[in-house]
Amino acid sequence: MSFGDSKAIITNQPDIHENLSEIVKKHLDKEFKKPISAHTQQAFDEINDVVQKFSGPIILDSCCGVGQSTRILARQNPQALVIGVDKSDNRIKRNVEDKWQADNFHLVRADLNDFYRLVVEANWPVSKHFILYPNPWPKSKHVQRRWHGSAVFPYIIKVGKELHMRSNWQLYLQEFQHALAIVNVDAVIEEVVDDEALTPFEAKYKASGQQCWQLAAKLENN
Ligand SMILES: C[S@@+](CC[C@H](N)C(=O)[O-])C[C@H]1O[C@@H](n2cnc3c(N)ncnc32)[C@H](O)[C@@H]1O
Repeated sequence: MSFGDSKAIITNQPDIHENLSEIVKKHLDKEFKKPISAHTQQAFDEINDVVQKFSGPIILDSCCGVGQSTRILARQNPQALVIGVDKSDNRIKRNVEDKWQADNFHLVRADLNDFYRLVVEANWPVSKHFILYPNPWPKSKHVQRRWHGSAVFPYIIKVGKELHMRSNWQLYLQEFQHALAIVNVDAVIEEVVDDEALTPFEAKYKASGQQCWQLAAKLENN
């Protein structure tokens, strides 16, 4: 597949998943007990040392892929420490263009299902939390693999004062908005109109003529 040839989302789900409310409530009511993996605990401990010594705002860039957005956010927010997290070692270590280099960022290889719980426990002072183009899992039966359908959702909403999530699948964001409404948080969804793509996936979708969407929500944390 070439750069401008990214396929639009194909799904067997026409609307918000019929079981989503039930799934979200189940996760809100039940403690997430899965043990933290050793590699994520170790990665967290290392970056937590850096965070605890830093006195400014923290920006978390979850699912950062190659970290292009992490670098752009670092340049846009020189007073902040920007932390990009992705489970793929291969993506994190890939070189990106020089024009986005900055020195106020770190890339961390970790599983966010565990990492979020450690961030909440350590009470990181996150000002903004970005989740840009998460894997959509468009098949209806995979709803629990989407972040709002996952057991870690109750922790995601405890991270940061602002949440910004982007997707080329508007229904993903509408579902996240639906899940936020269950905990009485309002969110707005708008089309992304930025001239410069924040991430490689955004660039790819735009080059293929697809619309990209952003959800923004204010959270009552820290
Ligand atoms: C579609 S890519 C988007 C990457 C980047 N944000 C972009 O827009 O170019 C989704 C990313 O989420 C990461 N990811 C998925 N599940 C994860 C998890 N549980 N923990 C950490 N990263 C995860 C994948 O490794 C992948 O890099």
